[in-house]
Amino acid sequence: MQVAGKQLKVLVAYYSSAGHTRTIAEQIAKAAQADLEELRAVGEPSGTGARHYFWTLRYLLLSQKPPLILAQHDASTYDLIILGSPVWLGTFSPVLRSYIRAAPLARKRVALFCSYRNSPGSAFKHVTRMLGTSGVIVGTLSFVDPVAAGLSSITIRAQRWAHELELSLAAQAETPM
Ligand SMILES: Cc1cc2nc3c(=O)[nH]c(=O)nc-3n(C[C@H](O)[C@H](O)[C@H](O)COP(=O)(O)O)c2cc1C
Repeated sequence: MQVAGKQLKVLVAYYSSAGHTRTIAEQIAKAAQADLEELRAVGEPSGTGARHYFWTLRYLLLSQKPPLILAQHDASTYDLIILGSPVWLGTFSPVLRSYIRAAPLARKRVALFCSYRNSPGSAFKHVTRMLGTSGVIVGTLSFVDPVAAGLSSITIRAQRWAHELELSLAAQAETPM
């Protein structure tokens, strides 16, 4: 991703349980020439079966944040962090919320995307509130039922969005954070 002639360092950090958000994250990372960070929690059951479902439910219903497996990339060294999650009960997954609490996002430019089945609810609003004044949101993108949409549609939307983010960052380039 290039802004004002400068190559930006971009990180796509995401969580995915059943793989939809992963597919989107991979396409966005390709379009934005970004590094990819798949977030996982300590003790998370593998797969998407009953054990995983109840593990998920526990964190959702108790509004708790699971401890994360150490991330591979240092978010503080990136110019733009793109965060992606499935929508669970109207917000981002607890794993993503743990990352937002733990990662050095202060004064970082942040973009958000999500995948969902019926409605994204207040997911972006909720995460924006979590970020508070620490991150500056430069764009959001939501995908309804990505499997039905198909890979080529995801690729096109990812490329378009990466371009929109470039324009948005270029417009902000004059504004000090
Ligand atoms: C526990 C749980 C809660 C969910 N809550 C919502 C929801 O509130 N709204 C919605 O539209 N989809 C909801 N979904 C569907 C997922 O957001 C959707 O299938 C998403 O694409 C899954 O992404 P993934 O394959 O990356 O895990 C939920 C799925 C699960 C497992």
